[in-house]
Amino acid sequence: MAKMKLLVARKFPDDVLARCGRDYDCRFNPEDHTWQGAELCKMAAGMDAVLLSSRNKVSAEVAAGMPDSVKIIATFSVGYEHIDVPACAQRGIIVTNTPDVLTEATADVALLLLLVASRRAKEGLNMVVKGEWRGWTPTQLLGRQAGGHVLGILGMGRIGRSLAHRARALGMEIHYHNRRPLTDDLAEGATYHKDAESLLKVSEFLSIHCELTPETDKLLDAKRIAMLPAGAVVVNTARGGIVDDEAMIAALKSGHIAAVGLDVFNNEPKVHPGYFDLPNAFVLPHIGSATIETRNAMGYRALDIIDAYFAGRKPKDALAG
Ligand code: DGY
Repeated sequence: MAKMKLLVARKFPDDVLARCGRDYDCRFNPEDHTWQGAELCKMAAGMDAVLLSSRNKVSAEVAAGMPDSVKIIATFSVGYEHIDVPACAQRGIIVTNTPDVLTEATADVALLLLLVASRRAKEGLNMVVKGEWRGWTPTQLLGRQAGGHVLGILGMGRIGRSLAHRARALGMEIHYHNRRPLTDDLAEGATYHKDAESLLKVSEFLSIHCELTPETDKLLDAKRIAMLPAGAVVVNTARGGIVDDEAMIAALKSGHIAAVGLDVFNNEPKVHPGYFDLPNAFVLPHIGSATIETRNAMGYRALDIIDAYFAGRKPKDALAG
């Protein structure tokens, strides 16, 4: 039987590409172009399925322009705000994502950012590599101790809960806000706040793990940043759009926010240049899920779904359109 045709829209890890090539008749993207708009539709011509990433936008226009042959679009990401799912549904195209498999890797990066931000690692690194370190002193680069302080988790889904496990090991007290309180077994003693504002007021450390939706767009604006305790540390590994950069930069300059650790940004790959010169802003290039184990698992999960779909089974991670 002829293999189904798969557009592999990014240069995914080698083992993922090998499985694509083994099981499908593929159009690959060895140069790793970020196909967008009409070009993405053109590349999908004659394809049965598309495997793409969060940098390939599938707007309503792109969904409308997708060839009739395309039946399923699998995004190699847990986030899917880059895809107009209802517009795809209107075309009869199923959209799926890759939840679960990147939970631990992303929680690791949230913890890493929490520690490097609160322990002033950027200033320390700069001091050493610029040859400005004159030796140990009793008061040099005094940071904030995580243990004994409150960590507020905005969005207590899989990644938020996984960070909570790590933070408890540091002796942090966990508070959270979600649309709904968790069951006791999932909350594991964490304190629920029914609105974000109430959580912010107690969060000496804050880590953002909610989805970017119209409700959370710029949720952390000047007004809400001001609600955080003076000297708070903020971490974002979710989506850049949840933070108002101008307001955050002003708060970092005033010292109201002691430090920030960011892995995600508004308009990636552009990063607000205001962060670059700030000693208390530690930025990473969206590496939350960047371990080989996790990226392979993301690819395999997406391919399992496409396999299941073409085998006539209901795809596991189909998103509601
Ligand atoms: C995700 O999976 O959503 C990551 O942020 C990569 O886009």
